Amino acid sequence: AQIRHYQWKVDYLYFSPDCIEKVIIAINGQYPGPTIRAHAGDTIVVELQNFLPTAGVVIHWHGIHQIGTPWFDGTAFVSQCPINPGETFTYKFIVDRAGTFFYHGHIGMQRAAGLYGSLIVDLRHGEKEPFAYDGDLRIAINDWWHRSVYDQETGLISIPFRFVGDPQSLLIEGRGRYNCSLVPTSFVLGSGDCVNCNISNPQCQPFVLPVEPGKTYRLRIANVASLSSLNFILEGHKLTIVEADGYYVDPVVVENLDLYSGETYSVLFTANQDASRNYWAAINVRGRKSSTPTGLAVLNYLLNPSSMLPSTPSPVSPAWNDFDYSLNQSKLILARKGYEVPPPAKADRELIFLTTQNKIDGRIKWAINNITYAPTSTPVLAALKYGWKKAYDLNPPPDYPSRPFNISAPPPNVNAKFGSGVYKFQFDSVVDVIIQNTNTLNPNNSEIHPWHLHGHDFWVLGHGKGVFHPATDSQSYNLKNAPLKNTVAVFPYGWVALRFRADNPGVWPFHCHIEAHLHMGMGVIFAEGWDRLPKLPKSILGCGLSKFYIP
Ligand code: C2O
Ligand code: CU
Repeated sequence: AQIRHYQWKVDYLYFSPDCIEKVIIAINGQYPGPTIRAHAGDTIVVELQNFLPTAGVVIHWHGIHQIGTPWFDGTAFVSQCPINPGETFTYKFIVDRAGTFFYHGHIGMQRAAGLYGSLIVDLRHGEKEPFAYDGDLRIAINDWWHRSVYDQETGLISIPFRFVGDPQSLLIEGRGRYNCSLVPTSFVLGSGDCVNCNISNPQCQPFVLPVEPGKTYRLRIANVASLSSLNFILEGHKLTIVEADGYYVDPVVVENLDLYSGETYSVLFTANQDASRNYWAAINVRGRKSSTPTGLAVLNYLLNPSSMLPSTPSPVSPAWNDFDYSLNQSKLILARKGYEVPPPAKADRELIFLTTQNKIDGRIKWAINNITYAPTSTPVLAALKYGWKKAYDLNPPPDYPSRPFNISAPPPNVNAKFGSGVYKFQFDSVVDVIIQNTNTLNPNNSEIHPWHLHGHDFWVLGHGKGVFHPATDSQSYNLKNAPLKNTVAVFPYGWVALRFRADNPGVWPFHCHIEAHLHMGMGVIFAEGWDRLPKLPKSILGCGLSKFYIP
């Protein structure tokens, strides 16, 4: 195994990912951030210097388990204090398994400001993939707004509520094309408008995926979106899904692929179409009604020029509200034969999370069993490890919904409560979490939520429609070839059941990966085995109570 050293400077930068200039957060002047590529077992060392004059920074390594290094998980006020302006902080961790991952800012909404990049882990030397390909390509896909993330964050906690709204553009590997003709003349954008639109700016030229005719490629796709569920299409080419969140899945052939924020997939495709032209790689919004135009990149059959754009129209995805389509695709994702890791036969503890949209003091929030997560000012990891009882709510949050509920109508009592309690698990115990989706505050509306767990992968035991019935629905759990994932979507008015082993000492957020939802309190904190940890590194401390009690 090798040590891979990176030096990163995080700073604001003027950039035009969709031809409209705005201030983004970049790493070493790059957007998306530099790709980390390593082999399983390698140690990654990232020395990060924060050049943002007025904001803290942390980086979360999404999908990496941080076994033995929970303090480098990169979640502000959970695993560490934010890195202050001017400070340098060193992350050092082992990438324990091969797969397609990414990294991103994990304070406020910095991911939506551009602070993310790919993290690709190859197999250990000498190991082989169970499928063959000639080339390895990768893209991160996301949604993009022209308003600053500070503006977006403020709107979400204001009265009246101001939603971030439809993204202006969809980006493939940080590039898109804003359609200025869609802007009503009365609409004035906060930070740049169509007057500044320069479609010949090299920063917004479509991303190019070069392929040789006849060859087969592995395309790694990470959905790093702030809000959107995205459907990926490679015009004229079928996709064979082979990996999801770092695990091999039973190969399935699809026409297009739904990815929820926080998910990563690898697909195989063969460049077996008419080689005299290029094709679109496209993404469309799914799961919410949206007027955002298709995000486009170019599948470039060599030796055609990459500037030769297809004359065909933008590929069209399934209807935004075809949730059966979404559910069916999710059910196709199963552990690959010969690589199954069957889940433990039963759980030691079961949590049922009723997720609801609520209000607190007139502000719209999301709650889990009626608790909206209120971040602490002390890293929860330090609070648990050193027993600082004033740092967080000592009352554990409820394992079950706190009152009877009806998932098909807005909650009759809209009020939720703030809390910063922790779900504490017996070390090495098996935990089931059932996420129950509900109607929002608006009649006839329920939204997709992609739930992501830090520090672990979980088995997806099952998805269902309507209310989860413990006695009967648990009978249908897949205990044979349930896929292991770190992110899974719960669909409108439905439920999803997960199982994981609480065997990684540390403190681990479990939250909706939609940045706006997390910012509105849609998350909980899990913890196990914190008493087994050695002394915490000083570099993660210094905020909240950790500045008074110096261990
Ligand atoms: Cu990729 Cu806690 O998130
Ligand atoms: Cu959500």
